[in-house]
Amino acid sequence: MKSLAIIIAFAVAASADLLPFAFAPLPLGSIQPQGWLLDQMQLMADGLAGHEYDFYLYVNESSWLGGDQEYSNLNEGFPYWFNALVPLAYGLNDDRLKSQVQAAATYVLQHQADDGWIGPETGDARIMWARFPALLGFMQLAEAEQTMTDMVVAGMQKFAVCMNNMLTANYTGYLGTSDDLWGRARFQDMIISLQWLYEHYPQDNGQILLDNMQMLTEAGYDWAYWFLDAFIKENLYDVSLDITNALFQFEHGVNAGQGLKSGAVIRRFTNNDTLLASTRQGVDWTFKYHGAASGTILADERLDGLSPMTGQVHNLSELCTAVETMYSLSYLYEALGDNDFADRSERAAFNALPTMLTADWWAHQYMAEPNQGYSQDLTESPFWNVNTLGQTFGLEPNYPCCAVNHPQGYPKFLSNSFVTVGNNGLGHALLSPATATSTLPGGNKVTVSCNTKYPFDFSLSYTASASSAFDLYLRVPGWALSSSVSVNSGASSPLKPDRHTGMAKVSLPAGQSIVEYTLSADTTLDLRANNTVAVYHGPLLYALQIGEDIIAQPPRNWGNQSDYPSGYAPTQSHDYTINNLTAWNIAIDPSTISYQVNLSAGSDPLPNPIWTSGGPPGFMTFRGCEIAWPIEKGVPTNPPQDRTCTAAPTEYTMIPYGAAKLHMAEMPIVNLTSQRVRGLI
Ligand SMILES: *[C@@H]1O[C@H](CO)[C@@H](O)[C@H](O)[C@H]1NC(C)=O
Ligand SMILES: *[C@@H]1O[C@H](CO)[C@@H](O)[C@H](O)[C@H]1NC(C)=O
Ligand SMILES: *[C@@H]1O[C@H](CO)[C@@H](O)[C@H](O)[C@H]1NC(C)=O
Ligand SMILES: *[C@@H]1O[C@H](CO)[C@@H](O)[C@H](O)[C@H]1NC(C)=O
Ligand SMILES: *[C@@H]1O[C@H](CO)[C@@H](O)[C@H](O)[C@H]1NC(C)=O
Ligand SMILES: *[C@@H]1O[C@H](CO)[C@@H](O)[C@H](O)[C@H]1NC(C)=O
Ligand SMILES: *[C@@H]1O[C@H](CO)[C@@H](O)[C@H](O)[C@H]1NC(C)=O
Ligand SMILES: *[C@@H]1O[C@H](CO)[C@@H](O)[C@H](O)[C@H]1NC(C)=O
Ligand SMILES: *[C@@H]1O[C@H](CO)[C@@H](O)[C@H](O)[C@H]1NC(C)=O
Repeated sequence: MKSLAIIIAFAVAASADLLPFAFAPLPLGSIQPQGWLLDQMQLMADGLAGHEYDFYLYVNESSWLGGDQEYSNLNEGFPYWFNALVPLAYGLNDDRLKSQVQAAATYVLQHQADDGWIGPETGDARIMWARFPALLGFMQLAEAEQTMTDMVVAGMQKFAVCMNNMLTANYTGYLGTSDDLWGRARFQDMIISLQWLYEHYPQDNGQILLDNMQMLTEAGYDWAYWFLDAFIKENLYDVSLDITNALFQFEHGVNAGQGLKSGAVIRRFTNNDTLLASTRQGVDWTFKYHGAASGTILADERLDGLSPMTGQVHNLSELCTAVETMYSLSYLYEALGDNDFADRSERAAFNALPTMLTADWWAHQYMAEPNQGYSQDLTESPFWNVNTLGQTFGLEPNYPCCAVNHPQGYPKFLSNSFVTVGNNGLGHALLSPATATSTLPGGNKVTVSCNTKYPFDFSLSYTASASSAFDLYLRVPGWALSSSVSVNSGASSPLKPDRHTGMAKVSLPAGQSIVEYTLSADTTLDLRANNTVAVYHGPLLYALQIGEDIIAQPPRNWGNQSDYPSGYAPTQSHDYTINNLTAWNIAIDPSTISYQVNLSAGSDPLPNPIWTSGGPPGFMTFRGCEIAWPIEKGVPTNPPQDRTCTAAPTEYTMIPYGAAKLHMAEMPIVNLTSQRVRGLI
């Protein structure tokens, strides 16, 4: 480790500006959800996320709020909840949830230690990591709740001084604690809050804030080293433990999701452009070698690659990984502007996230499998550090972190969906139904409301009002076949998006304007390992629909898997077994795929809930057949190479992956024409 003297010598001068975002985020509270996104966030408020403060041990009786319930010595349960509930409360403008986060924040700040430490720990128990999501929560609260801004900023500043004292005293609480790998791999999340303070409320602490950024980076793990030099492309089961253990901090799925943005965060204060190449390669390689078709990162706690050991790959992805990946990618789009980052954030938001929640948002999976024919208590665990209930839906299947961390998903997707572009532009970065109200940097007051069923169809209608003329920027996704726009009922013309950012400028006059934006999408195939295929229409992944036999039981305690006493959780909280009512061992003939819109579905407005069988209007049919597909250790093996039909080919249905809690998303390819020629059926 480098000595402190060297670190200070390289420190950035306090007068320096941070590198600007390509597209600056709006303050929390500027964007309200509409349409299906409003429905989803309201379901969250009415579901587990919105009730954890009332009963859930690791929030309601957290040591942060004077209780003593923690699932680990990291004390991260409350901070995860807080980071997520602030944007949920202010995205929805929900008084009940706003009063919860205000009361919690007030309690925590009233109990701030004299030296500035935030949180319940004293002495050696002070491990910095859980402060990272806590400060992200405070940052968002200070933006959204003006009555609390002064108090919250004062608490954050006092903590920054405390942190500076600890970091300069041999990195106390950061380096050399029993679990320091979490903080050292996730420090960029703390730097985001420090940079926010530096830009908005530097007070007299500018140099301290910069020194903290520098020290956190110096003693943290170097994601550029992983992305450029040490990256493991193989499945980790194929690599020796000496190597994988030494790099575990980069392989852990949630770290991998959070770490995607690390270089872009550091670059803002170091101006180091090497981080552009490492960040871009990091995103490309993470998804190329460990990516799921649904847009998340495959990791059964550790990265899962493409090549299996002893013929067996157990691809899984943690719910926390999905929401952290979405957030990192939306940050990356704002910081660097690569269109691909926004497309990837949408892909995870519309596929990986919703498939892991029950439609009512009361139960979630800890881990999802791309090919999930059933969701049961397995006879044994084939996974690395995940128990037999990890892929079932429930209150806290396996580890409780995702019960408290998952609610950040859609609220942060919403709060990063509109961005400012230059002095007088507002951009729609993450397409979805929402209304943004903002005073642009140049002083223009604008409100833009997007009414759309996107991603379920591809027309977006905007109503804009502005005190003077401004530019509306529309992001054209990389997958779009074509795009067109019409302003105030004028002729429709193709959009000309910027090649790097995908943003297309539409200049609008002062006053009211109506903008109709239309995209066209195709059905696309992504060939995956083991001669399988993933099928998309626009940003939506489609997967085999499997009949679901859903059996509810009381929620279980994650530690010993015994039922919680009745009365602990609200009656809507259940753990589930989902057995398949139809076959999942299906091979697909891709030449027969046909995309259709379900005319019998009530399509205006979209059904609520949307992420459930029969919800989304689009579906696909294809011809396929059952094949012999063995089960090992309770889960299907890798897709078998022998594609001989074991039953007559027939027509099957695919629905959006997010709506299919049971699904096969990477289906073995079969050529039914040649099978017939070969006389195999
Ligand atoms: C925990 O829940 C109980 C019952 O709803 C409530 O009275 C109490 O105030 C809650 N505690 C906190 C810290 O919110
Ligand atoms: C400083 O921390 C490092 C890393 O934990 C440790 O090896 C070293 O002994 C510490 N030095 C002092 C003076 O405490
Ligand atoms: C820039 O970042 C790269 C990647 O982390 C690092 O190797 C290099 O030392 C940095 N350059 C400077 C001048 O800090
Ligand atoms: C599945 O694909 C991997 C990676 O391409 C390959 O190593 C493995 O042999 C395949 N498994 C089977 C059963 O074909
Ligand atoms: C594992 O993931 C790879 C892609 O990352 C995929 O090709 C393969 O089919 C998956 N295996 C299973 C059993 O899902
Ligand atoms: C399971 O754990 C909970 C919480 O620690 C405890 O209250 C309960 O008694 C345990 N149940 C069994 C059957 O061990
Ligand atoms: C569940 O799936 C398996 C494998 O496809 C199949 O053998 C079984 O018949 C299915 N169950 C039902 C009730 O259809
Ligand atoms: C089509 O819509 C109807 C009515 O909402 C629904 O029952 C049915 O499941 C839908 N079909 C598909 C394939 O989603
Ligand atoms: C499927 O098999 C038929 C008959 O052998 C052949 O003509 C056709 O090209 C094959 N299709 C694909 C996509 O390989």
